[in-house]
Amino acid sequence: MRRHIMRKQSKNAKLVFLLAVLFFFAAVGLVGVQAQSSAPPHGGATPGAAVESGTPKKAEQQFKNIQVLKGIPAEQLIPTMEFIRASLGVGCEYCHEHDAFDKDDKEPKKKARKMMEMMITINQENFNGQRMVTCNSCHNGNPKPQSIPSVMPETPKELAAGNTMMLPPVGGAASGEAKGNSEMAQQLLDKYVQASGGAAAIEKVSSRIMKGTINFGGKSLPIEIFAKDPDQRISFTHMPEGDSVTAFNGHEGWLAAPGRPGVRPMQGSEVDAASMDADLHLPIHLKAMFSELQAQGTEKIGDAKAYVVVGMREGKTPMRLFFDEQSGLLIRLVRFGDTALGWLPTEIDYADYRENDGVKVPYRWTLARPGGRFTIQVSETKQNVPVDDAKFAKPVAEEPPKAP
Ligand code: HEC
Ligand code: HEC
Repeated sequence: MRRHIMRKQSKNAKLVFLLAVLFFFAAVGLVGVQAQSSAPPHGGATPGAAVESGTPKKAEQQFKNIQVLKGIPAEQLIPTMEFIRASLGVGCEYCHEHDAFDKDDKEPKKKARKMMEMMITINQENFNGQRMVTCNSCHNGNPKPQSIPSVMPETPKELAAGNTMMLPPVGGAASGEAKGNSEMAQQLLDKYVQASGGAAAIEKVSSRIMKGTINFGGKSLPIEIFAKDPDQRISFTHMPEGDSVTAFNGHEGWLAAPGRPGVRPMQGSEVDAASMDADLHLPIHLKAMFSELQAQGTEKIGDAKAYVVVGMREGKTPMRLFFDEQSGLLIRLVRFGDTALGWLPTEIDYADYRENDGVKVPYRWTLARPGGRFTIQVSETKQNVPVDDAKFAKPVAEEPPKAP
């Protein structure tokens, strides 16, 4: 059954590939990746594949020295590199000289090409070509895989949740059990709508302005978030040097950082993620997002017990949703960015739900990716106040916009 789902996934990947559009220019793309790892994280974006109309540019057309990853969409190259970086627990400089990414002067880069070929062969010969074995299966965060099991530590560690996180859903539509699971999943989504205040109250929310702090790596900075129906959202992280901006205007998203000219457009599953984050009515739109839903038992999240639901989406990677057993509210969401070698996870934990005009809103959320994590704590919320559409317009000028 897992096979079936994975096959669907790879068919989807092809679709994604065919439909992918490229508004990725090498220089800006690279700046973007570097900005993500050095500047404070902002917004809820993930790198990944695009689903847009147009002709996709291939990696070898965009970059100078592609030998193994030929044929993948060019915009997937950097997310794929991010996947390698995360799987090996190294920095880009482990394989690349700064500013000369096309050069083959580092041994690990040459080794990595061989490893990609090995990974492809393993999967072709054993798993029907599905990406069951990836760099992470062996490396698991180390440049040198551990081939010898560890002895028992003094304080036994719990199995990392991340180990099960990536597993595709099990079971299938054919069995009666799966049907029951699907019904239960639908009920959990309905319960979430109820717990959030009910469809009518949720529908009434037309805008939301939040003020608070964003906390990462021991630092804390003020942040302001403006959201307006339909699907418009912009956040300003106030840094000493200026504002770091993440924005989505309902169709396209972009990022800006102080000291960098212009804006970087969001790509692929970044756009997908941003549109979800911008949806003020998400609880009532969730069901329609999925082509197939499955309840998968319970998992512990901190002190809470949560029902797990997996949602399959046409042409996109699946998502995992965790609903609090007590309140019925969404307390965790895991989504995946697609890359040529495997999926890159983003995990968002929602907490500190408070009521605003009859609607439950999380006042704290933590977003974690392989490359970093941050927590936003909201201190003040205004709802249903006028917000000018112009606030979400993509700037044409070189200067990123300023918060009021
Ligand atoms: C473990 C080694 C490894 C790491 C770490 C790594 N890369 Fe790569 N990178 C490669 C290999 C191998 C290729 C060539 C792929 C091919 O030939 O198909 C490549 C190609 C590239 C290219 C294309 C260059 C060109 O013009 O041909 C860019 C850009 C790039 N990497 C950026 C990055 C960035 C950014 C990071 C960090 C997020 C990174 N890489 C991390 C191994 C690595
Ligand atoms: C089936 C297991 C397996 C898979 C899958 C795998 N590797 Fe490896 N990799 C190894 C082993 C084993 C070594 C050798 C480590 C040593 O020499 O100590 C290694 C070594 C490497 C090294 C050299 C590290 C160093 O500094 O000596 C790089 C770079 C590397 N792998 C990259 C990758 C990348 C990128 C992928 C995914 C495309 C990948 N590997 C997939 C098992 C694997």
